[in-house]
Amino acid sequence: MSRSILILFIFFSIVGCSGGDIDEVGLVTENAMVVSAHPLASAVGADILKRGGNAVDAAIAVQFALAVVYPDAGNIGGGGFLVLRQQDGSIDALDYREKAPLAAHKDMYLNEAGEVIEGLSLKGHLAAGVPGTVDGMVRAHEKYGSMPWAELVQPAVELAARGFPLTEKEAVKLNEERNDFIRYNTFKPNFILKDHWSEGDTLRLQDLAYALRLIRDQGRAGFYEGPTANNIVAEMERGGGIISKEDLQQYKSVWRDPITANIGAYKVISMPPPSSGGIALVQLLTISSQFPLGEWGWNTAQTAHFMVEAERRVYADRAEHLGDPDFWEVPVEGLLDSAYIMQRMANIDLDWASDSDEVSAGEPVAYESPNTTHYSIVDPMGNAVSVTTTLNSSFGSKVFVAGSGFLLNNEMDDFSVKPGYPNSYRVIGGEANAIQPGKRMLSSMTPTILEKEGKLYMVVGSMGGSTIITTVYQIITNVIAHNLPMQGAVNAGRFHHQWQPDWVLSEWGALGPGTGAKLWFRGHKIAPKTGGGIGRAAGILVLPDGRLEGGADPRGDDASAGF
Ligand code: DON
Repeated sequence: MSRSILILFIFFSIVGCSGGDIDEVGLVTENAMVVSAHPLASAVGADILKRGGNAVDAAIAVQFALAVVYPDAGNIGGGGFLVLRQQDGSIDALDYREKAPLAAHKDMYLNEAGEVIEGLSLKGHLAAGVPGTVDGMVRAHEKYGSMPWAELVQPAVELAARGFPLTEKEAVKLNEERNDFIRYNTFKPNFILKDHWSEGDTLRLQDLAYALRLIRDQGRAGFYEGPTANNIVAEMERGGGIISKEDLQQYKSVWRDPITANIGAYKVISMPPPSSGGIALVQLLTISSQFPLGEWGWNTAQTAHFMVEAERRVYADRAEHLGDPDFWEVPVEGLLDSAYIMQRMANIDLDWASDSDEVSAGEPVAYESPNTTHYSIVDPMGNAVSVTTTLNSSFGSKVFVAGSGFLLNNEMDDFSVKPGYPNSYRVIGGEANAIQPGKRMLSSMTPTILEKEGKLYMVVGSMGGSTIITTVYQIITNVIAHNLPMQGAVNAGRFHHQWQPDWVLSEWGALGPGTGAKLWFRGHKIAPKTGGGIGRAAGILVLPDGRLEGGADPRGDDASAGF
């Protein structure tokens, strides 16, 4: 380690205290709770619940509200995953992830020499996958909704048409993105109508209000057909993108069986492939349940070392085995098998870091048959919904659909654009996650619900690309092993390892005084997270007396609302 890195590292570990107040208790309510990335969206969800709507109704209203007030990640031009547990214990998972357009192909981001063209899968029209959000919300409503569809979309229509005040963080972000909005658009979107946005400025989005009205009045056809579909295809033609009318007509979200696992007193219910989140989380929690993390203490060197070693192995499996199950045989049962997990983890040295170059994916037995945002909801009946939704990067591809006022995702970058070439979250992949027409790109989104002794216990998830899985893992561990309240568990500083690159990414101060130094002496390389924290989570904990505690992330404008 060079001298300057060592000095930075020592400074880093000395200044370290904890990330946020780990003893803070969040909003506690008697009946219902919504935690999301924006206070206006949480208020919309809580209002739907007050009017008698169920958790799915509220989730639909929050999804559309976030598309207006939190355009970094809230969306109608992206996709997401929804995990549901009804009050009677029945569970379900909805995959409304974007798909590769039919004209996509494996080498579409490579030049003639076979090298990756930097940025092509990240910004501009070619970065966008076929959006899944509107179809997803329509299907969720058909199966579980109880209120009229139009009433769930209406709050978003009103927010877009009347406008809403920008928070300080949002104003800063719009200013930062200004150049990209100019560069990647074929017209002048509303977001650049002002040179400089300030906190409290009103953002009115008339084109988006028009697109939302069409969705309100026509459901699926209001987006995948008619004026909005025409606008998307025209936008693609102007900007060199490839999403066609046929892509839009064919898009279908899918109900899938959630990943479940019983681990001690807990049952984990989470997202199956094309997310890697559920499988990776179960692997991490299974191995953690065999070690006395509580006794070792919260974020001590022993606990952090162990968690990092487990993460290193789990992400090696992710890179090799996970992809869209409709295109790739993911060995789900093999990866979840506790004997396999224990054998994979058997060579963890409890004192010394392994070298990622010497850790490779395991060989699970084959399966016989073949800027994101998270919100959590519990309704007064006890139904729970956990949703993570995204455009991928903050403001997605930066491309707005002219006339319809919404941003398109840049989810194509979540594919492995070339074997071994890292995506924007520096995760690598291979054949399992190669681009194919109509295929869904691998995700790390981990919307999760936990039961304890058969009863609803926690609803949790996060944004943060590849760090989502470890964020959810740490929050759950903070509560079940270290007894932190929900808010404290979300506040707590975070660290992350994903096998490659071989370093522990850590929020400033997350590892606590001395822990960073001890980890370094055990052979870990530590990289401070710059440019914001790791993840932004939203959790709800059911307290022993049945009340609900919200955990809204202080890293953003997140807010809990309920009654
Ligand atoms: O699906 C995924 O794993 C990513 N597209 C999530 C993106 C994300 O969390 C953005 N936030 N940093």
